[in-house]
Amino acid sequence: MPSSHRASLTIDAMCVGVDSPVENVIRRIDDNRMGVAFVIDADLRLVGSVTDGDIRRALLGGRLDLAMPVSTVMNEHPSVLPMGSGAEAAYAALSAGLREGKSVFPRVDDAGRIQSFSYREDWGLVPIAEPSLTGNEAGYVLECLESNWISSTGPFVARFETAFSEYTGLAHPVAVSNGTTAITLALQALRLPPGAEVIVPDSTFAATANAVVAAGGRPVLADVDPQTWGLSAESVRDLIGPETWGIVPVHLYGNPCDVEGLRALCDEHGLVMVEDCAEAIGTTASGRHVGALAEAACFSFFGNKTLTTGEGGMTFFRQAEAEEHARVLRDHGMSKSRRYWHDVIGYNYRMTNLQAAIGLAQSERATELVGSKLSNAKTYVEGLAAIGGVSPMPQSPFGDCSYWLMPVMIEAASDSDRDALMESLAARGIQTRATFPPLHRMPAFADCRGASAFPVASEIADRGVCLPNNPGMSADDISVIIATLDEAAPRRRDDRAKARP
Ligand SMILES: Cc1ncc(COP(=O)(O)O)c(C=O)c1O
Repeated sequence: MPSSHRASLTIDAMCVGVDSPVENVIRRIDDNRMGVAFVIDADLRLVGSVTDGDIRRALLGGRLDLAMPVSTVMNEHPSVLPMGSGAEAAYAALSAGLREGKSVFPRVDDAGRIQSFSYREDWGLVPIAEPSLTGNEAGYVLECLESNWISSTGPFVARFETAFSEYTGLAHPVAVSNGTTAITLALQALRLPPGAEVIVPDSTFAATANAVVAAGGRPVLADVDPQTWGLSAESVRDLIGPETWGIVPVHLYGNPCDVEGLRALCDEHGLVMVEDCAEAIGTTASGRHVGALAEAACFSFFGNKTLTTGEGGMTFFRQAEAEEHARVLRDHGMSKSRRYWHDVIGYNYRMTNLQAAIGLAQSERATELVGSKLSNAKTYVEGLAAIGGVSPMPQSPFGDCSYWLMPVMIEAASDSDRDALMESLAARGIQTRATFPPLHRMPAFADCRGASAFPVASEIADRGVCLPNNPGMSADDISVIIATLDEAAPRRRDDRAKARP
């Protein structure tokens, strides 16, 4: 945005009194070059808006002369962004306004008085994560439709398994309906005994622990490591007991945890390791894709993931026998040699040919899609270094993060500081989300506390914000985000106050 333009977005430049004649309004709009003026009453409350188009149409329609008050032509229901309404409401209000072609949004307080304006030169909303479907996705889906192969029987499922296996270098893939069933199936195929304990991180999306319960196990929550935000041998060791069967480390937001340390711990105690790589497509540790050291590695292809199939997942197994068993369990437990014959209880966790068609096209673009996230992350890290008060998620020393999202920690964050910062970003069209609340605080997992305290997971949850990272973002989007953080981060406000003489 040109700085002269931004400076012109003052209340004086953008507003007219409700009794102002139309001629003055035209002059105001001409001066502010924004195509719109906002109408305020004697108490400075917003009562309407008027665009140059509104005036032109009314003049041409013969309904207006220049001496009439603006109230005769104004829109009495202008789009506004209420302050304090929260990031989600602000982003939704902005999206709705943009759909109607609006470009400047007054931010109003509880009394309806304008406090500032939201404006961007080029209003592209920046969602937190967004699929990029510009390759062969549509063509392959069309092939499914034209051939009538739309359920899970169809050639794309095997082609996707092969392609994603080639990308990750992981063997024995089984495509499934989503990332949660990928974890559930891994645990079931590896024969998790009923009621056995599985150690999971406190900082994760609940699906990690839900899958353990779905597979008949009992999740035990461990705190996470401050360097990686994932499980570490230290955070797990004290929780291992006679009932412990395995662990499910999560590479949170794509940051690799210490898989070698965890593998060694599992080997020492005879435990199974199932890696939750849902957020870690493209993440490497010790030069290999994460998942390589586990008995099973599980991926999600939900719409917000780095590669997507809409809904979808995949599990890789270290052993061919586990893969074969998983295929039977995934397909209703039906015998591979005798149709409609069931030696074991099974499930329907299958992926459709339609999903796999999208997945194959996405796999073809995996390097490009992961690469664009890495390049965004680099721009973010450089930008964040230049401002204070906000720091990126720590870079794991155990490998290379793929930055599914761009989590940052806000230094002086109370809940309300963080909410205000997220709302400021939303008011500029930037969608964010708070980092995952820790599972130990949730009623669903009240009986799962393993560790006696969760200081790291709690801090991540209380001070973290995930910024968008999607392939469609531009460097300008990231500049706007960094500039907004610079203006709105609570620590910076304090610094500025201190800097004043
Ligand atoms: C860490 C983690 N595990 C598991 C899942 C579950 O994946 P899905 O939503 O595909 O079931 C997700 C994502 O949603 C996730 O972020």
